[in-house]
Amino acid sequence: MTVRKIVVWPDAALAEVAKPVTQFDDALRTLVADMFDTMYKARGIGLAATQIAVGQRVIVIDLDPRNDAEKDPEVKDELNAWGYKGPLAVINPELVSGDGDITWNEGCLSVPGITEDIKRREHVIVKAFDPTGKPYELDAHGLFAVCLQHEIDHLNGKMFVDYLSKLKRDVIKRKMVRLKSEETDDGVEAAQNL
Ligand code: NI
Repeated sequence: MTVRKIVVWPDAALAEVAKPVTQFDDALRTLVADMFDTMYKARGIGLAATQIAVGQRVIVIDLDPRNDAEKDPEVKDELNAWGYKGPLAVINPELVSGDGDITWNEGCLSVPGITEDIKRREHVIVKAFDPTGKPYELDAHGLFAVCLQHEIDHLNGKMFVDYLSKLKRDVIKRKMVRLKSEETDDGVEAAQNL
C-alpha cells in the first residue's frame, strides 16, 4: 500500500472527466487501498481518484476516520441518521436522485486550508459497485450525501470552488498558486476535507 500524491488545484488533472472502471481486478483493489492510505494520511474523509491524477471513477469515503462513533454514542447516532455504515469504496457511482437542501462548510484535500459554504442536496440515492464488482445502493443524508456529491463532482472534473463567484474563486486560485509547493498543516477539521 502506498500513499499517493494529492494534486492541488488549479491543475488540469482535476478538470478531467474520469472513465468508468471496466476491470474489477487486483489493480483496482490496489488503487482503492492506496486511496484509503492517502486519504487517512491527509486526514480527509473522502477522496476521488481524480485527486491523485488517476482518471477512473473510484471514490473512497470514511466519515469517521478516528473511530469516534465507538467512543461517542452521539457521533454514532449522527452517522446512523445519515445512513452511514462504515468506510466504503464507491466505484462507478451514479446519482439516481436527490432532494432537500443542505449547506455545509466544505473543504477539499486539493484546495488545502480553504473552506466555503456550499449548498447541495440533503438526501441522495447513489448506485455503485464495490471493488469486487458487486452492485449496491446508498441512501445518504447530511454529510454523507454532501461527501458523495462532492466526490462525484471530482469524477466529473468539477471542484467545490466552481460553485463560488468568479471573484471568490480567483482569490482562492491565487492563494493556491502561492501555496503549491509548500507543505502546510492548515488545521482544517477532518470533517471538512472531502
Ligand atoms: Ni475534494
